[in-house]
Amino acid sequence: MGFLEQIDIEKIPQHVAVIMDGNGRWAKEKGKLRVFGHQNGVLAVRDTVEGAVELGVKYLTLYAFSTENWNRPKLEVLALMELLVATINKETKTLMNNGVRLNAIGNLKSLPEKCYRQLQETIVKTSQNTNCTLTLALSYSSRWEITNAAKNLALKVEQGELKASEINEDIFASELNTASMPDPELMIRTSGEFRISNYLLWQLAYSELYFTPKLWPDFRRDDLFEAVLDYQKRERRFGLTSEQLP
Ligand code: IPE
Ligand code: IPE
Ligand code: MG
Repeated sequence: MGFLEQIDIEKIPQHVAVIMDGNGRWAKEKGKLRVFGHQNGVLAVRDTVEGAVELGVKYLTLYAFSTENWNRPKLEVLALMELLVATINKETKTLMNNGVRLNAIGNLKSLPEKCYRQLQETIVKTSQNTNCTLTLALSYSSRWEITNAAKNLALKVEQGELKASEINEDIFASELNTASMPDPELMIRTSGEFRISNYLLWQLAYSELYFTPKLWPDFRRDDLFEAVLDYQKRERRFGLTSEQLP
């Protein structure tokens, strides 16, 4: 029996977050330049998005470019930005066909103008789609996001809009880029690395983590199904004892 057939449709995670890692190593294995790996990562993105829609996952959040990634060789950064524009443009049709709404989080103003414009254009074009929200984390760093939230709250207190004593977890979360989304129940990282790399630190507080040695360009919807199946076998206790759970 395949993974999909074994999945309990009643227990699909609402939000799946992914760290798409291993493009460079995938290319290197083939004796090619790192950019070749990024290009082939696009296929994995398309298949994963379609797989998420097939399952009924409402939010899929993909780590596409971190703040730290700006420090990579200039040529690689440039190629990634070009690829981003071309991909969003080319994949708009796939998003429309699958009823997927595009969204983005991160320091979007730091993206090249062309990138930012293409992103906004597709966000507007897909804004009425309701099957799934695909969020790209671009120029994203969780510490940056959390620091910004603190700054915004401090400003509100300074201007008398809010009392410091009123700040609670919900108010704090409402200042994050992910304010309109539930926290991910499942976080997948490819390429055999066991770290979070400054991704959704607040939001992953109680997420189930799934690591696979597969390199991102080889990842397909069946790998997503396998991860969801693994997630469904876990007991999420949220600090309680097993006996306390329903
Ligand atoms: C993930 O693949 C894509 C980005 C970070 C943009 P990498 O480029 O990190 O590939 P590896 O980890 O070097 O193999
Ligand atoms: C994390 O991957 C960022 C993205 C997938 C966009 P990295 O390859 O940049 O992470 P590290 O450097 O291995 O932690
Ligand atoms: Mg990497």
